Amino acid sequence: MKDSYGRTVDYMRISITDRCNLRCRYCMPEMPCFLPRKELLSLEEILDICVCGARMGIRKIKITGGEPLLRPGCVELIRKLKEIPGMEKVTLTTNGVLLAPFAEALYQAGIDGVNVSLDTLNEETYRKITGFDKLAQVLEGLDTMSRFPVPLKTNTVLLPWENGKDWKELALLAKNRRIDVRFIEKMPLGKDKETEGVSNILLLEEMQASFGKAEPDGRSHGNGPAVYYRFPGFQGSVGFISAIHDNFCAGCNRLRMTAEGKVKPCLCYEENFSLKEAVRAGNREEIRELLRSAVEKKPQRHCFAHTEQITEQRDMWKIGG
Ligand code: GTP
Ligand code: 5AD
Ligand code: SF4
Repeated sequence: MKDSYGRTVDYMRISITDRCNLRCRYCMPEMPCFLPRKELLSLEEILDICVCGARMGIRKIKITGGEPLLRPGCVELIRKLKEIPGMEKVTLTTNGVLLAPFAEALYQAGIDGVNVSLDTLNEETYRKITGFDKLAQVLEGLDTMSRFPVPLKTNTVLLPWENGKDWKELALLAKNRRIDVRFIEKMPLGKDKETEGVSNILLLEEMQASFGKAEPDGRSHGNGPAVYYRFPGFQGSVGFISAIHDNFCAGCNRLRMTAEGKVKPCLCYEENFSLKEAVRAGNREEIRELLRSAVEKKPQRHCFAHTEQITEQRDMWKIGG
């Protein structure tokens, strides 16, 4: 599918649950009110939509949440998505808490990559940011997953007064292991809209002062907006997702769908195309029509630099990142 700016859309991010076993303060700052179960698309409905998407050129799927591993049947869904003719990559973004027990099954299901949210290596800071003492479980998840030949990346959102100084320890994970460590500039969404994150431009400067000159790493590491660098002596790369200080929208290739089947053309606008009715009616032609409309409505770029233009009111956990 081509959008009205000539970009090829071949990637869909699919949230399979809004539930989460963490409460990261930038993502879920208030007590959440999760969707009633009947509002969620069933896994069969999600699969149906992906089959329609594949017929229209969707080649890559990212499974997100909330926390996707909380949804019973997540691994089975991944296995079935991989069987769709034309599907090239199915990847998962998880908070890692349940990764250790699922790692082998994910590998067996054919997962093409796993991204793990990891904002700090300090237990106390982890508890402050996520609300839970689960850092050890996440680190065990990373260890277990890294025993399988599956590309593994971490995601860190730096908040100046919480984990702002923790980047060094985190980046060193890429020195010592074949993991790509990524830093995401906090995006102004939802209830925590006003809290500012750390600039990736300044961060890269600080990193170069510590680790030496970084060389741009042009190899493809995934389907998302990260820009990667290599530091001397590092096994993995360091990636930057700079939604505020860079604009990656010219390369945008994606749609996203919430757990209740709303397709969003862009992260920062509230516009939705609901597929639930069409999929529940078994109307595949309408599903394809709605996907086409969502692609046509993709804006040229996001508006995070002009917060007054952001119309999306929901927190990230309701959208899927
Ligand atoms: P891979 O490159 O395949 O690993 O995908 P990814 O980096 O997009 O996946 P992940 O789910 O780990 O997302 C990392 C961060 O990128 C999250 O904070 C997402 O919200 C953000 N992100 C992904 N796509 C977009 C996008 O289209 N626009 C913006 N602004 N942020 C995005
Ligand atoms: N800005 C940037 N990244 C965010 N994430 C959640 N909320 C935000 C935000 N406001 C990240 C999580 C996770 C990924 C899917 O999105 O840390 O790693
Ligand atoms: Fe859960 Fe991810 Fe949101 Fe944290 S960032 S509360 S792990 S959905």
